Order: sequence, then C-alpha cells, then structure tokens
Amino acid sequence: MDILIYSPDGKTAPYETSLAEHLREANIRGWQPGDAAPADYLVLWKPNAEVLLPRARLKAIFNLGAGVDGVLGTRGEGAHHLPPGVPLVRLEDAGMADQMAQYVSAAALRYFRRLDVFDAQQAQGQWKFQKPNRLTDFPVAVLGYGTLGAHVAKALKAFGFPVRAWRRSQRGEGMHDSGIELHHGDAGFDACVSGARILVNLLPLTPQTENVLNAHLFAKLAQGAFLINVARGAHLVEDDLLAALDSGQIAGATLDVFRTEPLPADHPFWRAPRVTITPHISALTLRDETVAQIAGKIAALERGEAITGIVDPTRGY
Ligand code: GLV
Repeated sequence: MDILIYSPDGKTAPYETSLAEHLREANIRGWQPGDAAPADYLVLWKPNAEVLLPRARLKAIFNLGAGVDGVLGTRGEGAHHLPPGVPLVRLEDAGMADQMAQYVSAAALRYFRRLDVFDAQQAQGQWKFQKPNRLTDFPVAVLGYGTLGAHVAKALKAFGFPVRAWRRSQRGEGMHDSGIELHHGDAGFDACVSGARILVNLLPLTPQTENVLNAHLFAKLAQGAFLINVARGAHLVEDDLLAALDSGQIAGATLDVFRTEPLPADHPFWRAPRVTITPHISALTLRDETVAQIAGKIAALERGEAITGIVDPTRGY
C-alpha cells in the first residue's frame, strides 16, 4: 500500500514517521514536485492541483483538518480538481473538540465576567466595580452544530449559559439536545441568533456561508453583543464588524481566523481596542490523534468496512 503525504510547508516527515508506526506494511512518502506516481491514499493539507491529479489506485483522500475549504476552495471551485469517485475524508474531532470548547468557553467567560473591561481598567490604573452580568441575559448562539459545534455548545451549557445552536439540516434528535435549543434551516436561523449576546461561529466555509457574519446578522443580535469566530476568516465581512464595533452594536470580538493569515501588520483589527486576536490556534491538528484516526480509517477501508467523515463535495462539508 502506498501513502502519499502533502503539506504546503513540505514538513511531512513527522507524519510519515508516525503513520509508519501504525501501518507497518505501508510505503509512505512525502510529495515532491513532479510526483505523479500511484498512491492508494493521499493525506494532505491545502493541496495544489498537481497533488490532486488522478493517480492510479487512489482509494481515499484524507484532509489534515476539520475544514475542507482548503481542498474544495472557498467557493467550491476546487471540487472539480478532485479525482472523480475518490472519497474526501475530513478529521472528526481528533482532539480538536476539547480545544475548541476550552477556547470558546474562555472567550465567552471573559466577556460574561467582564474581564475584558477589567483589563482595560487595569491599563488605566482604575479600581472600579462593574455590575455583574446575569447568565439569563447572556444567551449564546452557536452557528454550526457538527462534531465541534455540539461539543462547544455542551461546554457552554455546563457553565449555565442559555445555549442555542443552528445547523443547516435537521437530524434525528428533535429540537432539544441536552438542554440546548436547536434550530435548523433558513427558517430557524433568525430564531437562533435573535437577541443572542454571544455569537460563536463554527460553520464550515462554503459558498452559502461565506460572508455570513455581516451587518444584517449583527443587527439581529442583542445590543452590545460579542462575536467569537473560530471557523474561517472568509465568514466575516470585516468592514461590517469594524462598523458594528464603532456603533456599539458589537461590544467585542475574539477572532482566531482571518481572510489573510498571518493577519497583515497594517490590518485595522490590530488597532481595534475591543478585538482580541489569536493566530489560528483555537483547535490545532494534533499529530498523534490525527494519525491514529487516519490510520484507523485506512485499515477499515482495507478491510472493506465503511468509514465516517466522508465529505459531500456538493455540500462542502
Ligand atoms: C483548522 O482550521 C481545521 O480545519 O482543522
């Protein structure tokens, strides 16, 4: 069995070593320019078109992340590069759900407990009481209720936040899941976000969700709401956020993802006092968990068994 690994930074060696420990009989190689040789499996992140050229024997493509927009393209334009009939598989959790829950809970609690305000006061040398918020005044809306979104929603619920969540399609469990108010479809979107005090974005980036975080949506939130974007930069209309921060409609934003990464030095977000920036670290791809998951799925496919995490390229996730 041949496994070909690609990463834009060329740093595939640790993955090669780690995969080899799980799949001892496999021939594993990192991609080099010009490599069009057969492979049974591709393991990759943000591939170029050459990596995706049809290869003899190819059985599946594994994405080294949860979001597959790096393969399908922001607007799905990369979908036609995919070799026909070869499943694209995304990471499912692999240690990301806990990281997301920690990051989003930390940001939500920071706003709820007004630590952002106390930070600003400390910078001014101010000892000043702030009236505490009440959880009942802090409904949180989580956009995206897949593996990561559901875990984040449950973590927020455990802190006592009233949590609503939205996803595109309805699944079996009805409208309430562990006390989380679930909404779905176009019809359920407004009910999920209306009056929310914190908006958390965990949607996949697809042509339908690009620019979803815009002035129109911000206007539906509670006055002085907070935004936490941990999905993709292209979900956010940046100028709309800056305007909403100016008007006070949005009181603060915690952003882990940006249209251009690294965030350019002259970007206004760096200087926006109520924007908190982190460098796309909310949920890292953890090598051990990732490799174990991918190796397990390769072994299952080799045994002729079905696997989960297969992307529907027309849906984009
Ligand atoms: C990270 O951004 C991922 O998609 O896993």
